[in-house]
Amino acid sequence: MGVIAIDGPAAAGKSSVARRVAAEIGWTHLSSGMLYRAVTWWLLKHGAGADPGQMELHLNLGPGGLELTVDGVRPGPELSSPEVVAAVAETATSPAVRDLVGRHLREAGRKFNLVCDGRDIGTTVFPDAVLKVFLTADPRERARRRLIQADTLGGGASPVERDQALRAQAAELEARDRRDSLRAISPLTRAEDAVEIDNSGLNLDESVAAVLEKIEDRFLGA
Ligand code: CDP
Repeated sequence: MGVIAIDGPAAAGKSSVARRVAAEIGWTHLSSGMLYRAVTWWLLKHGAGADPGQMELHLNLGPGGLELTVDGVRPGPELSSPEVVAAVAETATSPAVRDLVGRHLREAGRKFNLVCDGRDIGTTVFPDAVLKVFLTADPRERARRRLIQADTLGGGASPVERDQALRAQAAELEARDRRDSLRAISPLTRAEDAVEIDNSGLNLDESVAAVLEKIEDRFLGA
């Protein structure tokens, strides 16, 4: 089985690009951030002192790709709740949590050809990935995309309100990036052998095309 790793900072478009790339090449998409969010969600429910080893976490292949269940339940939009977002980077510093998530990712990697996105996929989880992409975009553009995704950059807002929302979102992303980059274990960092794609000026289709081009280069040796 093979892995294509797509790492990069928050809201660079990793999951959307990885999902589309996987569909194009007939591989399976896996968002590692979704697992960190799921563990965070579980810890918020059970208390910070709870042992994540107690949670029943499963990844099963469904019609829409790999589906995550936690204690038999498929978490939905709550994985993007402000509470989860505020706590996830802290949860992700825990060696026990990283070990747990890493084991699930590697197990999936033994079963499927994966396009896997995250922070440390090409550096730590799958250092032998057949292709490593480091996907970036400038911070204000990433904040803009995240607000559009959350549907909060509404048409009713004034230019001042929109600018304030953008600044607040950029600050949240920056705080999380800083935490992810500075942590001791598996920090967000570009693997030496990763190809960097800055997709600030690219839309989703163009970003997907840029990654597909790298895949062609890699496999056809162009
Ligand atoms: O979508 P976005 O880029 O904002 O976040 P995500 O990919 O869902 O990841 C959420 C958080 O999980 C990150 O900010 C990291 O703290 C953590 N994470 C990690 O530590 N290692 C990974 N491989 C993936 C995510």
